[in-house]
Order: sequence, then structure tokens, then C-alpha cells
Amino acid sequence: MVVYSPGRANLIGEHTDYNDGFVLPFAIKRYVKIEIEPSKKFKIFSHQLKKGIEFDAPTKTNSWADYVIGMVQKLREHGYEVKPFTMHIDSDLPMGAGLSSSAALEVGAGYAISQMMGFEIDREELAKIAHECEVDFVGVRCGIMDQYAVALSKEDHALFIDTMTREYKYVPLRLDDTKLYLINSGVKHELGSSEYNKRRHECELALQALRKSSFREVTLEDIEKIQDPVLKKRALHVVTENERVLKTLSALEDDNLVLVGKYLYESHYSLKDNYEVSCEEIDFLIEKLREYSNVLGARIVGAGFGGSIIALVKGNFESIFEKISEAYRIKFGILPTLLNVETSNGVFRAL
Ligand code: GLA
Repeated sequence: MVVYSPGRANLIGEHTDYNDGFVLPFAIKRYVKIEIEPSKKFKIFSHQLKKGIEFDAPTKTNSWADYVIGMVQKLREHGYEVKPFTMHIDSDLPMGAGLSSSAALEVGAGYAISQMMGFEIDREELAKIAHECEVDFVGVRCGIMDQYAVALSKEDHALFIDTMTREYKYVPLRLDDTKLYLINSGVKHELGSSEYNKRRHECELALQALRKSSFREVTLEDIEKIQDPVLKKRALHVVTENERVLKTLSALEDDNLVLVGKYLYESHYSLKDNYEVSCEEIDFLIEKLREYSNVLGARIVGAGFGGSIIALVKGNFESIFEKISEAYRIKFGILPTLLNVETSNGVFRAL
């Protein structure tokens, strides 16, 4: 049996999903492909990495295989009797590009296992189990955005999630003569997981300083009272980013894509200056993009420290991208890659 599990981009709402905030991701037509069949022992192979692993009982390996091994363990903890299988994994989704290859593998593995075993797991539960896998087993204290987006997305829509209540709704993406692109900077976000957990901790400290239990109770006036300059900036990002997500929703409803673009740039500068999760290479690309008026907006996407940029562009972009990528290559010696974004449904079984 074959399962396709998509990567995700995020229109706006970055580093808000572990802060009771709002996010607006969508799945993209780039997939982790998983083939599964029952076997005597657990066997997992990665075609991209040309590596395989065998095991009888789930134990952590500190490698790529943990996204699958962790799902076996978590499904069992939830009462699903997972039996051994052989799994082949292939992918056209770049790793470390801020497009959530890890959640795609977790959700995809969980979906493939449940389809093979005949478990009845709804998509929300699958997303929650995959999220537990990432937090408890892999050890990255991420929010729920990625697993929800991979499990629940719908083509031509973004997925608005209130991460406090976990309620979600589908928002039509009517882009008219504009298009979304992803530019992979080629810088892998390896620093990501340690810095990521650090940001999360700083947000907890900011809440403590304010004696509040959730960012949903925090106003811009409150933030003025935070003494520590770093914590103040972190809180400022979270509160303003939540406002930007809501404003983006209204702008999308009004078909005002110029305004959506403006919020994307604002989000980037907040991620760069307040949350400090951008990097020199990405900032260079953003400044280059700003030179073109038909680039309505752009920002770093995902956890940060490298990875990709999402850009909203009116009209032709290929020739602009060529110029920008040449300047980037001269400065950093790396070639960025361009992905024309097409939205996708969440994880699905091939016919
Ligand atoms: C990573 C995490 C998500 C989210 C983003 C930042 O992708 O897995 O939960 O926090 O970073 O918005």
C-alpha cells in the first residue's frame, strides 16, 4: 500500500502555535511517499539517505528513523496494536527547508500504519499522536501547526487554526493573478531545534514576568512592562503576529492581496528583529525581493535559521528570480531553488 504525505508551507502565523496563537498553513504538492507491508520484523528504508534500520521493539536511535519508530511507540501507547512492517520511504520534499519533512514523515507513517492495520483513527487524532511523537519521542517542543497541516489540509485552501482551542476552519486561497512561491535558501536549519526550544522557553519566561497564563491575555500595553529587553521582543513578536494572522484573514476575504503581501513583509521583519530567527542569507534574499514592486510580500517560513521564503508575486517571477539567485550565488556561493507552490490535500492513500 502506498501513502503520500505532503509538506506544508505557512502563509502567516510563525512561532505562534506553541503560544496559544493563530496560524494559517497549507499543504503543498511535494510529498513523502511511504510504501508499507506486513513483515516479521520492523524494517524501515530511506531511499534518499540510502539507509535502512531493523528493530523488534521501538527504541530511540537519534536518527531520521525516530519519526517512524516514535509513531509505533505512540500508537501503541494510545492502544493501537501495531504489528511489524516493512516500510520504504521516498521523498521529493527537501529536508531542513522549513517545509516540515519531519511532520510529513510522522503523519504519513501513522496514516500508512493505520491503513494497513485497519485502525480507525480520525485525522485530528492522527495529528495529535504525531505531535506527541515529535515532542516526547524526538524531543522538539514544537506546536501543532505542522502535524495539523499535513493531516487536515484541503486543496486551494489554507487551514486557519486557533492553537489554543485547536479549532480550525478552511480559508479559500483566491489568488487571482498572483502566485505563491517558495524559495529554498539552501541553508539548512540545523541550529533550529536547540534555538527553537530556547525561544519557547523565553516565551514562558515572558508570560511569567507578566503573571499571565496565556498570550491571549497579553496586550501591547502589557508588553511595555516587561523589563528584560529580549523577553520583551519575543512577546512583541507573538502578540503582533497574532494580529497579523487575523488581519490577513480579513484581507483574504476582501481579496486584497496587496495587503496580504504587506503583512508578509511585516511578519518577516518581526521574525528577524524581535524573534531573531532569520539569518543573513534569507535577509539578503528578502531585501532583493523588495526591490521589485510586483513582489507583493515575502517572509521566512517555518522554524527559521535558514530554510525557505514564501513570496506572493503578481505576474512573471522567473526572470526576477534568475537575477536574485545570481546575486545570491555570487555573495554566498549557494544557488537558491524555486518552487512554484500548489496547494494539496492532507495525507492520502494512492489509488
Ligand atoms: C516549526 C514547528 C512548528 C512551528 C514553526 C514556527 O515548523 O514544528 O510547530 O512552531 O516551527 O512557526
